[in-house]
Amino acid sequence: MPQLRTNKSYTLSTEDETRDFARHIAATTHAGDVIFLEGPLGAGKTFFSQAFIQSLGHDGKVLSPTYSLVQSYTVKLQTQALPSQLHHFDLYRLADPEELEFIGIRDYINPDYVCLIEWPSKGKGILPTPSVYIQLDYAPSNPQGRVAKVTYA
Ligand SMILES: Nc1ncnc2c1ncn2[C@@H]1O[C@H](COP(=O)(O)OP(=O)(O)OP(=O)(O)O)[C@@H](O)[C@H]1O
Ligand SMILES: [Mg+2]
Repeated sequence: MPQLRTNKSYTLSTEDETRDFARHIAATTHAGDVIFLEGPLGAGKTFFSQAFIQSLGHDGKVLSPTYSLVQSYTVKLQTQALPSQLHHFDLYRLADPEELEFIGIRDYINPDYVCLIEWPSKGKGILPTPSVYIQLDYAPSNPQGRVAKVTYA
């Protein structure tokens, strides 16, 4: 049975719970999805992305694209028979949203691809509306605790 995509908040008490959450979101991801990952420094956006990309069959390393802006992977979506391309962005170091035009953002955001974007607020005005919006935050009184809020377009 296909898994439903419903807006929901998740309490993530450990890293393992964040991994399971990332696997769940990955299992419901379609080609063409643009996924925004918002949240403060160290909230777990890259940690989530690593679990997400590995759960889609990438068995090598997932490096944080802090300096390269984007890293691309071949993945196997549950909703797609053939392998797909996934582009993982970290826009933290973007000085101006216009820089996205120079890296050819319009070639990456495509109905065949999945885009996972950390710090999407840095690309405001250039990035499209996301199909999946994930807000990650720290949870009080547990150093490993996080809260994730997922909103679908
Ligand atoms: N429940 C949890 N979920 C995710 N990460 C956790 C959790 N508990 C502890 N951590 C730790 O928090 C850190 C999250 O770092 P990460 O690089 O993923 O954050 P980030 O949101 O990408 O930060 P930045 O904005 O700097 O890129 C990791 O060191 C991870 O091991
Ligand atoms: Mg990060």
